[in-house]
Amino acid sequence: MYTQSLSIPDAAAAPPAKSVESAHLVQKFQSRIDDDGRIEPQDWMPEAYRKTLVRQISQHAHSEIVGMLPEGNWISRAPSLKAKAILIAKVQDEGGHGLYLYSAAETLGSSRDEMLAALHSGKAKYSSIFNYPALNWADVGVIGWLVDGAAIMNQIPLCRCSYGPYARAMIRVCKEESFHQRQGYASLLTLMRGTQAQKDMVQDAVNRWWWKCLAMFGPPDSDSHHSAQAMKWGIKRISNDDLRQKFIDATVPQAEVLGVKLPDPDLKWNEARGHYDFGPIDWDEFWQTVNGNGPLNKERLATRVRASEEGAWVREAALARARKQAHTGKEAA
Ligand code: 3HC
Repeated sequence: MYTQSLSIPDAAAAPPAKSVESAHLVQKFQSRIDDDGRIEPQDWMPEAYRKTLVRQISQHAHSEIVGMLPEGNWISRAPSLKAKAILIAKVQDEGGHGLYLYSAAETLGSSRDEMLAALHSGKAKYSSIFNYPALNWADVGVIGWLVDGAAIMNQIPLCRCSYGPYARAMIRVCKEESFHQRQGYASLLTLMRGTQAQKDMVQDAVNRWWWKCLAMFGPPDSDSHHSAQAMKWGIKRISNDDLRQKFIDATVPQAEVLGVKLPDPDLKWNEARGHYDFGPIDWDEFWQTVNGNGPLNKERLATRVRASEEGAWVREAALARARKQAHTGKEAA
């Protein structure tokens, strides 16, 4: 070029107008998150943020509805009318949580049919913990105490998630999960005041669920490929390892009150760290289960697929009724 004034940048050097605009949008989006603001469905968001949320929220929703199965099996065998009524309410709550969460994910443009198709085809994940069996009545109490206890520890920070609909759904979910955790603990306290056989049943259930609950928080931070970005976006507020540690620290004194032994010879208070030290988690077993090879993965999925097929007529009838109402403009008889 002959003069500076004619020296306009070539196409490779000059950012196209669209990328200048999106850089501005990204900056505005990130500043809102950094200022602890919320992103709402109508707001601009990067495509990767949207996809991450759809992945996490739909996995979470699937966990809630698959999570109805281990305890649902015990409704017909609950030891008293009161225990049965409590368990029915609890399992029903989990179904409700699934519905709030599918609705939150739908605000991101993903349809419920798409999300359920991903679950039924085995493409979508759900929490590893629900691929283990509930073998006796003490398991129902331990699921409430430890599984729901771990779920709340993970979900309380999600009430401050940057995506508004997810954060708001989590407030109600956490209140209900807190009831679930307490009813599980109360049921175990009753068993621990009973016969030696009942106490042994509780200890056996704790031995089988403890390590699997620690794995629920996800892989160690060093292997968690989503964490760094999810933290930057304010989706995750506390890392997998920190939540796991918080759960252990909170649970050890509860186990002492209950009178059960947590099955970890390395579990001991570390004065210097101000936390409990604990033994190694079997991550091979975790990944086997996450990847479809746990004890009940196939059975859980088959149950969900069957429920969907058997319920197809209900969805068709509801749609036909809605179409009729829309057509006549009034409530159908
Ligand atoms: N079970 C199955 N898969 C798991 C898992 C678990 N416990 N923990 C992690 N994973 C998967 C992740 O989904 C990811 O796989 P993907 O890339 O194919 O999606 C992979 O392992 C790597 O893990 P990351 O740590 O990188 O993944 P995330 O950043 O998403 O963290 C999480 C995992 C902590 C579970 C996070 O997704 C989360 O907080 N989710 C919302 C809460 C939730 O889903 N809870 C499930 C339990 S709900 C429940 O238990 C119901 C209640 O009623 C008891």
